[in-house]
Amino acid sequence: MTPSATTEQRLVIRAVTKADFDQIVAVLDRWWGGPSPERAHPLFFHEFGDAALVAEDEGQLVGFLLGLHTRSEPATGYIHLVGIHPDHRRRGVGHDLYQRFCENARAAGLQRVKAIAAVGHEGPIRFHLAQGFQGVEDPNYAGRGRARMVFIKDL
Ligand SMILES: CC(C)(COP(=O)(O)OP(=O)(O)OC[C@H]1O[C@@H](n2cnc3c(N)ncnc32)[C@H](O)[C@@H]1OP(=O)(O)O)[C@@H](O)C(=O)NCCC(=O)NCCS
Repeated sequence: MTPSATTEQRLVIRAVTKADFDQIVAVLDRWWGGPSPERAHPLFFHEFGDAALVAEDEGQLVGFLLGLHTRSEPATGYIHLVGIHPDHRRRGVGHDLYQRFCENARAAGLQRVKAIAAVGHEGPIRFHLAQGFQGVEDPNYAGRGRARMVFIKDL
């Protein structure tokens, strides 16, 4: 993938490297405002890394998206985790990462993109709606009584 500038002048979106992944693991608790070590499971880099992206602003990692291309029907791009540096939120970095992930998924022949959010987390919910996703609450998505917001966007 060729890195390119996007809507934020200096922003570069490119594929994740091992050095990026190590940095993501190191900043995760700070960016999430609490312990979150399980979120960036290593399989999202080691097994599915070609669908993972980072956003860089003048060489600084300011956002990441860990995703994968599923073998489900219809073929789906699944976004496992997106995180933006707290000082760089509401500047379109998340939007640009989602846009690039969707472009790549479309080019790979996928038909839709899916993402999950915790119920009641207004910021992520509004973010997904703003990216054109339809969201429904599934009360048993993650096990009995373990509700999640499920977001789908057709490509
Ligand atoms: C949710 C998150 C990824 C959004 O990233 P971002 O780069 O700040 O989002 P963008 O600037 O691209 O926002 C695009 C639009 O989404 C909506 N949006 C984004 N964050 C929002 C928030 N906190 N509250 C309400 N709307 C929001 C807005 O419509 C926004 O457009 P606007 O700024 O012109 O109003 C980021 O806040 C984050 O990393 N949060 C912590 C980690 C997290 O919760 N990840 C999601 C797990 S599902």
